[in-house]
Amino acid sequence: MTEPPRDTHFGFRTVDLDAKQGMVDDVFRSVARRYDLMNDLMSGGLHRAWKDALVTAVNPPKNQRAFTLLDLAGGTGDVALRVAEKAGAGTRITVADINTEMLAVGRERAAKAHHAIEFIEANAEALPFPDRSFDAVTIAFGIRNVPRIETALGEIFRVLKTGGHFLCLEFSSVDIPGLDRLYDLYSFNVIPAIGRAVIGDAEAYRYLVESIRKFPKPAAFADMIRAAGFRRVSHTPMSGGVVALHSGWRL
Ligand SMILES: C[S@@+](CC[C@H](N)C(=O)[O-])C[C@H]1O[C@@H](n2cnc3c(N)ncnc32)[C@H](O)[C@@H]1O
Repeated sequence: MTEPPRDTHFGFRTVDLDAKQGMVDDVFRSVARRYDLMNDLMSGGLHRAWKDALVTAVNPPKNQRAFTLLDLAGGTGDVALRVAEKAGAGTRITVADINTEMLAVGRERAAKAHHAIEFIEANAEALPFPDRSFDAVTIAFGIRNVPRIETALGEIFRVLKTGGHFLCLEFSSVDIPGLDRLYDLYSFNVIPAIGRAVIGDAEAYRYLVESIRKFPKPAAFADMIRAAGFRRVSHTPMSGGVVALHSGWRL
């Protein structure tokens, strides 16, 4: 039998599959304290609208009805806090992320906002939750950082209840002529420069830009979601294809 390929990519570099996670962790350790500020600066505030669209799609109950949400790769709790603002008293939110520093910022933000969100250090490839624990799983700008995406999708499927909803917000591919060149110019020049100016680290943001280019096209990623077992899989491009909101159901 032939061994499966052991390589993957870290931005535009080819790296050993087992080496990628440590490199990703270094990136988010270095940016954690300025992560939310950087999102505002890089996207001109647009990430807020993308995340609000994600929260609208989650549609948490506004009343006492029990509802459990896992926000995977939830970092500084930005999505979880938005859901908490909209949800009723029956909603229980768990943030899982592999990075201690990102989670620390999230815990501080949730405490300041007086929201009882649980923050757990966990790898998306091996979730520490029983089968069928959650009504919804969200992951925003996280999946492309995970070395074994298929494994993570399998784990998400496993921890969702039957009838549960998976929603994934991720950078996508701009295919509007003119906008694509402008987007490239902005991504490869302006974003690393903002990273250098704000956190003294252009490389972290070069990785982010490159990793977006290496992520599968939306139709290919939708196929991966289907292959993990999800049904009624769909995706909605936003902002000219800069990001896409993917949706699938465990039925
Ligand atoms: C771009 S940030 C997104 C944070 C947050 N979801 C948001 O939208 O603001 C990517 C996050 O993925 C996390 N991450 C990377 N690899 C992971 C893994 N294998 N398991 C869980 N989280 C992971 C990083 O630690 C980081 O917090």
